[in-house]
Amino acid sequence: MSAVHRERRAELARRLRAAGGGLAIVSTAPEAMRSRDSEYPFRPDSHFHHLTGFDEPEATLVLRADGHCELFCRDKHPEQEVWTGVRLGPEAARDALGVDAASSIAQLDQRLPELLNQQPAVWTVFGTRGTLDEQLDGWLAAVREQSHFGHAPPVSHRDLAAMLDEMRLFKAADELALMRRAAAISAAAHVRAMRFCAARFRAEPAGELAEYEIEAELLHEFRRQGAAGPAYPSIVAAGANACVLHHSAGPTRLRAGELCLIDAGCEFDGYASDITRTFPASGRYSAPQRELYDIVVAAQDAAVAVTRPGERHREAHHAAVRVLAQGMLDTGLLSHDRHGTLDDIIERASYRQFYMHGTGHWLGRDVHDTGDYLSRDEAPFEQPDYLGGRVVKHPSRKLEPGMVVTLEPGLYVRPAEGVPERYWHIGIRIEDDAVVTPTGCELISRGVPVRADEIEALMRG
Ligand code: GLY
Ligand code: MN
Ligand code: MN
Repeated sequence: MSAVHRERRAELARRLRAAGGGLAIVSTAPEAMRSRDSEYPFRPDSHFHHLTGFDEPEATLVLRADGHCELFCRDKHPEQEVWTGVRLGPEAARDALGVDAASSIAQLDQRLPELLNQQPAVWTVFGTRGTLDEQLDGWLAAVREQSHFGHAPPVSHRDLAAMLDEMRLFKAADELALMRRAAAISAAAHVRAMRFCAARFRAEPAGELAEYEIEAELLHEFRRQGAAGPAYPSIVAAGANACVLHHSAGPTRLRAGELCLIDAGCEFDGYASDITRTFPASGRYSAPQRELYDIVVAAQDAAVAVTRPGERHREAHHAAVRVLAQGMLDTGLLSHDRHGTLDDIIERASYRQFYMHGTGHWLGRDVHDTGDYLSRDEAPFEQPDYLGGRVVKHPSRKLEPGMVVTLEPGLYVRPAEGVPERYWHIGIRIEDDAVVTPTGCELISRGVPVRADEIEALMRG
């Protein structure tokens, strides 16, 4: 509720003017029922929160290209407030949120036809599955009903998503401070989980630990340090479960000698973190685990090296794939006889048997944050797809300072003919969060070590 939100709204108004003007309408997320009369914890819509910092449900922001902005929010309600907490209310909202006017959400149907009158365009975020489209239809009809008084509705309905996505892709200093904090808390949670496993297996070398017990350590650290909770369902994968990419922490038991893969990150003040580590349950990697682990570390190093301004986002993936594919040849996961040269393996994507996901994504308010991955100003080109057809696509976008990406290579070995048995059921991923700086990148999630020796030392300590 501050100067930053006012500045973001002013920036959005500038962009609306540059695009021909109009009226932008952004609503917060709907409340969702979990069971009967119990709700899921409310999380405001990311775009709405970015523009207002307001976290109550039932709120809508309206912004005109000339910079005028109005907020609609819930009325004060003394009885309800006894149950669900204090509401800001329209009267206090104007000053608290720095908007030009604030009214009851109940005024929306009366006020919106007035605001839409004579506007060249109306802008909303398309495809959010909310009720705004239906409401908008009613407001537009209401404007048209007044046409005999010279009122006229906008003649175009435009998608606001690209404009907001692009603004959110570049993080300002205040946002980076929150992201560093989120990453530091998550790193501490990973350290806590590693130490917890090490202590348990030291005390009971033949013991077992359920994935959910390890998850509890993560949640404890997130909340202890003031995070809202996990930014996405925590993945805690014991042994072979690591080969299921989105396995959720469940009742499977982790045993000495197995690896534990944790992909978990907290959300702090609206911003996500996203960290993965894969560590040995009892503190020491076996020889085959260590061989594959070191390949993934080297792949991540290669991705880090090309995460700098001017490099394309996809370069990190290409760099990681090259190291991983070479590692697959070195370990016999793939063979020259069956799969050809390193370049053949890359061109035919044979590495996808063991590495089937991308190497990173934008990170911000959403764990898979907003922002185009392609450079649409550059000419498209054609390339083969994995199914034997051809696809036309634009080049990957170049990185710029202020963007935040994850770097998350992995190797996942399911049993199969020709795959050396010593590697079966090993799943490894390493994931860090990188802020693109003017000269390279800053890894903000390294409060938890990555290198095998450092993880073993931590678990011994
Ligand atoms: N944790 C989800 C992801 O790594 O993309
Ligand atoms: Mn990720
Ligand atoms: Mn992740």
